Amino acid sequence: MITIEQLAFTYPDGTRALDGLSLRVAKGESVGIAGSNGAGKSTLVSHLNAWHLPQAGSARIGGVGVDKKSVETVRKKVGLVFQKPDDQLFMARVYDDVMFGPSNLGMNEAESHTEAERLLRMFGLWELRDKPPAHLSQGQKRFAALAAVLVMQPELLVMDEPTSDLDPRNRRMLIGLVNSLPTTRLTVSHDLDFIWETCKRVCIMSEGKIVADGPTKDILADAELLEANGLELPLRLQGG
Ligand SMILES: Nc1ncnc2c1ncn2[C@@H]1O[C@H](COP(=O)(O)OP(=O)(O)OP(=O)(O)O)[C@@H](O)[C@H]1O
Ligand SMILES: [Mg+2]
Repeated sequence: MITIEQLAFTYPDGTRALDGLSLRVAKGESVGIAGSNGAGKSTLVSHLNAWHLPQAGSARIGGVGVDKKSVETVRKKVGLVFQKPDDQLFMARVYDDVMFGPSNLGMNEAESHTEAERLLRMFGLWELRDKPPAHLSQGQKRFAALAAVLVMQPELLVMDEPTSDLDPRNRRMLIGLVNSLPTTRLTVSHDLDFIWETCKRVCIMSEGKIVADGPTKDILADAELLEANGLELPLRLQGG
C-alpha cells in the first residue's frame, strides 16, 4: 500500500525535515508513527496525500507514484486527517465540509449524504451541521475533519495526532471506531497508549528518519529505545 524509498525533503528555509526515509506498509496493516516534536512526522504524512511532493527519493501509494501528475489519483486513495483541523475545514457549514470531498470526487450524492449523516451522528455533530466549522470546539473540529475524510472511504487512512483535544470518552470511541475499520491505517501520535491500542506495528522517527520499526508491544515496551528518542513508555506500562 505504501512504498517509500530514500525520501528527502527540505523546507524553503533550509530545514531538512526528511533525510532519506524508507518505509513499506502492506495492505490491511495498522502502523503507528511516534517521535519527538520536530522529528518530521507531519512532513512525512504530508507526502502521502501529495500535499508535499518528493524532492528526492520516491513515494508510491498502491502502486501510484506520488508526483505532480498523480495528485488527484493519490488524493482519491488517501484520506489524511491533518494535525491542525483548521487546515482542513474551510466551508461555511460543517455539513458542506463533510460533503466537499465526495462532490469533488463525483461520488454518488445520495449515498454520500447517508454516510455523512451516519458519521456526523456518530461524532455528535449532526445537530451542529449548519454551524461554521470555526465555531466548533477543538474536539468537535477534529471529528468534523475525520468525518470529512472517512466519508470518502479512502483505501489508506492517515491520521496526524487524532486524539489531541478529545475527551476520554470520545478518545475511547475513536479507538473502537478505528479498530473496526478494515482500511490500511497510518497513525501519527504522541499518545502512545492510543497507538498501543490501535496499531500492531510502530515506527519511531528521529531527525527525518525511521530509527526503529517493529511490533508495537516490543517497541513501545523498550524504555531505553524510547528514551533515546525523546519518548516515554506508554502510561499503561509506567509505574506499577
Ligand atoms: N513550513 C515549514 N517551514 C520550515 N520548516 C518547517 C515547516 N514545517 C515544518 N518545519 C520544520 O521541519 C521539521 C519537521 O517538522 P514536522 O512538522 O514534520 O515535525 P513533527 O514530527 O510533525 O513534529 P510535532 O510532533 O511537533 O507535530 C521541524 O524542524 C520543523 O521546524
Ligand atoms: Mg506534527
